[in-house]
Amino acid sequence: MTLSSDALEQHWLPFTANRDFKREPRLFVRASGMYYWNQNGDKILDGCSGLFTTAAGHCRPEIAKAVNEQLLTLDFTPSFMRSHPGAFQLANAVAALTPEDLSHVFFCNSGSEAVDTAIKIAFAYHLARNEGQRTYLVSRERAYHGVNMGGTALSGMVKNREAFGAVMPGVLHLRHTLLPQNRLTRGLGEHGVELADDLLRFVQLVGEKRIAAVFVEPIAGSTGVIVPPKGYLERVREICDRFGILLVFDEVICGFGRTGQPFAANTFGVLPDIITLAKALTNGAQPMGAVAVRDSIYRTITESAPDGATEFFHGYTYSAHPAACAAGLATLKIYETEDLFAKGRELAPYFQDAMFALQDIGVVADVRGFGMLAGVEIKPGKAAGVRGADLQAKLFDRGLHLKTTGDVAIIAPAFICGRPEVDIIVAMLRDALADY
Ligand SMILES: Cc1ncc(COP(=O)(O)O)c(C=O)c1O
Repeated sequence: MTLSSDALEQHWLPFTANRDFKREPRLFVRASGMYYWNQNGDKILDGCSGLFTTAAGHCRPEIAKAVNEQLLTLDFTPSFMRSHPGAFQLANAVAALTPEDLSHVFFCNSGSEAVDTAIKIAFAYHLARNEGQRTYLVSRERAYHGVNMGGTALSGMVKNREAFGAVMPGVLHLRHTLLPQNRLTRGLGEHGVELADDLLRFVQLVGEKRIAAVFVEPIAGSTGVIVPPKGYLERVREICDRFGILLVFDEVICGFGRTGQPFAANTFGVLPDIITLAKALTNGAQPMGAVAVRDSIYRTITESAPDGATEFFHGYTYSAHPAACAAGLATLKIYETEDLFAKGRELAPYFQDAMFALQDIGVVADVRGFGMLAGVEIKPGKAAGVRGADLQAKLFDRGLHLKTTGDVAIIAPAFICGRPEVDIIVAMLRDALADY
């Protein structure tokens, strides 16, 4: 299938060089398992699970069938004051995977909405316990928390902020943890635990009871894979506990097995108060996000309202959409029956070996990774990001799809991936990187 250049004008692509894309469109027309096919019929290995979404591989019939049946049975339910069984079943299934008592699940439609929902939950929680003066939020440099207003204010990536002004006042940013001393470290870095103490400085700056929540991606994904230093998440947790600050793990990328356990909170043994989720929740087959909160947060908010009154004035028309719930339930069943988190965990050492072996290529500046997630940073060309953009286009044309952010290639294969596919990914990367 080909589209004329006129037919490409109307669709304004997100996070894309539109003029460039429309001069040379790269379209996917079909997918199956580990592969996409483009408009010319070329087969393209998916090195990034779509966009960290499709952990069980593409076009799973079980998910398609569940969504189809759902749409033929009950296509839509108003999400306010009404619901449907699938919403509760999926909440239960998610709560069965989340650590400890993070057992209440609020549904939305994307990672960005999950983040903005979590911000509101944090404020509502503190207000309900008569600490409504906690109006500050803390995020981190280089953070990516989506693109809605709250997430943009939390963002630590300059391009995602600079056009939009001071979106929300009262957001403080911890320094990022991408340190040269940790260059080429596999897993958690030895250096940088003390960067968590920036949070203490913020407490000293704005007051002991002024910060509502700290947002942290356990592994910062979209910015180019920054694995936390040893002890860092623990120290952030400890400071949050000391000052009554909620800790939010944004697991939109890390969640559902990417780090080897259901959540990075499990893998790193640090319990947050709130987890934001999306992407692999439905294997990417339906848009959906979710926020899991600890029992005490849910109870504090719901019990603060009079009987019969709405407790939390927030929600979306499509919260817990029946088709998304059907996709989520079918997805979680696949993860369980095929033991896919364990498969990813077993493949991870081989995958990481393959990625770190690329460090002998001259243009490679750094390699970082954990579990089934890796970042290969290349030395910048004429300007930052130009070489990265060139690399992903070149790889696409040679048959490998991955995401680049700036000059970092991000590799995150599905958990159905085997050693042969890892070998192809690494061979294609090696081949393409040799050109620079
Ligand atoms: C950590 C994190 N939070 C939030 C988001 C936003 O998710 P979405 O694009 O579904 O709005 C992303 C997307 O990559 C993410 O990586």
